[in-house]
Amino acid sequence: MNTHSNRHSTQSHMFASLTAYLQDLQESGIDGIPTELMTVTEAGIVHQQTAPFEQIGENEEKGDNAVPEKHESLEQIRKNLGECQRCKLGTTRKNLVFGVGNPKARLVFVGEGPGADEDTQGEPFVGDAGKMLNRIIAAMELKREDVYICNVVKCRPPQNRPPETDEVAACSPFLLRQLNSIKPEAIVALGTSAAQALLQTKVPISKLRSKFHDFHGIPLMPTYHPSYLLRTGGNSDSFWSVWDDMTQVLQLLKLPVPNKSRKK
Ligand code: URA
Repeated sequence: MNTHSNRHSTQSHMFASLTAYLQDLQESGIDGIPTELMTVTEAGIVHQQTAPFEQIGENEEKGDNAVPEKHESLEQIRKNLGECQRCKLGTTRKNLVFGVGNPKARLVFVGEGPGADEDTQGEPFVGDAGKMLNRIIAAMELKREDVYICNVVKCRPPQNRPPETDEVAACSPFLLRQLNSIKPEAIVALGTSAAQALLQTKVPISKLRSKFHDFHGIPLMPTYHPSYLLRTGGNSDSFWSVWDDMTQVLQLLKLPVPNKSRKK
């Protein structure tokens, strides 16, 4: 899954994510994760065992002396975010957009960040891009309620600009915890910003898509953003590229692949 060349970037990503996470924990009064809870595989990829994430989340919620439960719920993570002002997006947002869908989803879609509609309604992908995403989900013969939908950043970047590095770094620990809570079998990264932020790379989406990448042990499929499909049209090459990517996701999940005929 990982080539030799992007292994290094995956490791840097892990390190960056973990550093941001540890900083967040430090703010909450927790000093760190014991090294014995991290492993390095033969392939050189650092895997953080999932249990410490859950346990630390529980401890943040209830204080350090609490006996940790097994699972950190999405509600607990949302509560821990509070009226978040960890980055500058907190000052301009109307609503924090946490995520929506099945807390036990097998499949999670991760977008870039809320737009105007999402900022107003507090729910991800409810505007035009959301309607396109709904079409993709329906074409997969899934329902919006079956999957989980969230974004790399939870607050709207002004003028819908891509989220900046410090904003992604501030929000990533919470996305990691959401994903660790849901434990999906696959993740779809929607568009350049989401794919590049999650995989910590500058490689263009056109090169990242169509194959699975490793994200903390979960297969991640980058694909074009629904807004891009809105611009390129319903029967465009990019539309069928997304369908090819979703076909691979359905196959990975061992779900039926609906037959779609391509108009010439
Ligand atoms: N675009 C995104 O990336 N996310 C949303 O929630 C809406 C539009």
